[in-house]
Amino acid sequence: MAAFVPFPLPPTEPPLEIGELLREQIRVTEEGLRRLDLAGAMVPSVDWFIYGFVRKEAVPSSQIEGTQATLVDLLNFEAEGTEASSENADIREVCNSLEALEFALDQLRRPDGLPLSMRLLNEAHARLMQGARGADKLPGEVRRSQNWIGGTRPGNAAFVPPPPHRLAELLSDFERSLHAGRDLPPLVRAGLLHVQFETIHPYLDGNGRIGRLLVTLLLESWGLLSAPLLYLSLYFKRHRDEYYRRLAAVRAEGDWEGWIAFFLKAVSTIAEEAVESARDLFALVNADRQRVLVTPGSTVIAARLFEMLPQHPILRIATAVELLDTTRPTATKAMTALVDAGVLQEISGKKRDRSYSYTAYLERLKVGTGLRE
Ligand SMILES: Nc1ncnc2c1ncn2[C@@H]1O[C@H](COP(=O)(O)OP(=O)(O)OP(=O)(O)O)[C@@H](O)[C@H]1O
Ligand SMILES: [Mg+2]
Repeated sequence: MAAFVPFPLPPTEPPLEIGELLREQIRVTEEGLRRLDLAGAMVPSVDWFIYGFVRKEAVPSSQIEGTQATLVDLLNFEAEGTEASSENADIREVCNSLEALEFALDQLRRPDGLPLSMRLLNEAHARLMQGARGADKLPGEVRRSQNWIGGTRPGNAAFVPPPPHRLAELLSDFERSLHAGRDLPPLVRAGLLHVQFETIHPYLDGNGRIGRLLVTLLLESWGLLSAPLLYLSLYFKRHRDEYYRRLAAVRAEGDWEGWIAFFLKAVSTIAEEAVESARDLFALVNADRQRVLVTPGSTVIAARLFEMLPQHPILRIATAVELLDTTRPTATKAMTALVDAGVLQEISGKKRDRSYSYTAYLERLKVGTGLRE
């Protein structure tokens, strides 16, 4: 089977046809993103909202790859505050996804940071592939060998991406197309760039994760969302077969329209779910805040600790001491008040060094992220 070398974007043979239906779908999807942006702006601290979503994204993003860590594993691990080691390679992978995302967003927001470019994606890739599992995957570097998707060798593969000696040229075209094609709607451009990136398949591994990260970065850079509130992994995971089929059809049949329709559907579905999720979490936090306020024994410190829970839905007393910058007895008293209010639950079953969880919050955050529930 021959390797496939794509033409530069935008598609010309055949050209992309944005008909009535697609145009309407673009309008609806843009509207959905505006609602999501608004939902993000309405929550008192967009940070805790993003905290939840970013972690929610990092988990299924790695699960497409077959990593078994769940959201609760990740939060538990973070609550322990230890360094990722080889025993928890799954967790390491999720933390890496998170680091890659945070790194890239930070660069784009800084005036002196890297612009949208292959260099930025390579740097993100280096962070994604750090640690034992990624060591032999050329972290941060474009591949130097022929790869293939599906099958045991190029001859029986589902898809053979371009040969390594063509990558420099293809990626410089790709980089140019990040900043070109401005006559197309930005959502369409994002969809085209994702499929092109997957077709070029520049890395030995992690192409899917970096290609999805790219979409998040584009939506923010192009002003479609003012915060990184949209993560497509959940949708691609749920519709994996169709996702792969649509990617393949672009290459085999030039079916750009079918891909774009699928991509828009993914964006609008996930945006809608994120709006619902935001509303749900917002309502829960408001109701629980009331409970904390009317609980006998509640203190100002307890109320302050409560506001920190969305960013620390699993925590130990030692963490509370640190967050509140107070003494152990005061922090313990605040934790006890939150337990009495029915907000926190003890989950470690230990006498010392106990862990507590904001279970109702986690339950809502967890929907769709855990394979081993
Ligand atoms: N037929 C295909 N044509 C083009 N790209 C494909 C095809 N099938 C799969 N892909 C892409 O390859 C990605 C997987 O590549 P790779 O293993 O390098 O990335 P990953 O980040 O490790 O995996 P994952 O996307 O599963 O998390 C898929 O996410 C998809 O985007
Ligand atoms: Mg992989």
